[in-house]
Amino acid sequence: QPPVITIDGPSGSGKGTIAKLLAEKLKFSLLDSGALYRLTALAALSRDIDLADEAALTKVASGLDIRFEPRDGEVAVLLEGRDVSRDIRMERVSMAASKVAAMPGVRAALLQRQRDFLKPPGLVADGRDMGTTVFPDAPVKVFLTASAEERARRRYEQLREKGVSVSLRDLLEDIRARDARDMNRAASPLVAAEDAVELDSTGVTIDGVLEKVLQLVLE
Ligand code: CDP
Repeated sequence: QPPVITIDGPSGSGKGTIAKLLAEKLKFSLLDSGALYRLTALAALSRDIDLADEAALTKVASGLDIRFEPRDGEVAVLLEGRDVSRDIRMERVSMAASKVAAMPGVRAALLQRQRDFLKPPGLVADGRDMGTTVFPDAPVKVFLTASAEERARRRYEQLREKGVSVSLRDLLEDIRARDARDMNRAASPLVAAEDAVELDSTGVTIDGVLEKVLQLVLE
């Protein structure tokens, strides 16, 4: 089996950025598992499926027709052939994804699809349960955290750059609500794997975090 590096952590911990840079550096494939939950949510919303109907949502998850295609340095996400890279980041979809992700049926339906991303020379897997459930045998596991305040501040800067005006307070509340949902759900709650290395990125630059993760990989 080619090696897997798992990067788990809460919303806004920077794991998406780190996972992407790490995959580029090592020439490994990248799994953005959150995108699969977002795609399930988007497909369900566009078909008017009740977000409490686990059987229907499980069916949506197992039947997803998706592709990830490299496109000018980014990865375009296609749902039934349509580019939905932007749509899956919408707030409405984020909220729905968080609900959909709490359902054991949906998680089970997406399990094999996530494992299928593993191919030589290796994989960087970004998510919440990569090290605990999806790739329990991964040789390198990172659990990336940062204080809720710092994560809200990062989100604030990102949105400001895009010209979106929001209040820092609302973002902080939002982050806290998402943390609570991630940590309190029965199916694959957000916890560090026993053998994961915890890195706190509060006050650390992206390069600083990347360097620490690379050290773990080379050990
Ligand atoms: O980091 P952020 O919450 O903004 O988004 P994401 O990582 O794209 O995840 C989207 C949703 O899927 C979140 O509600 C996560 O809780 C959920 N998720 C999950 O349950 N398991 C994963 N392996 C990845 C994401």
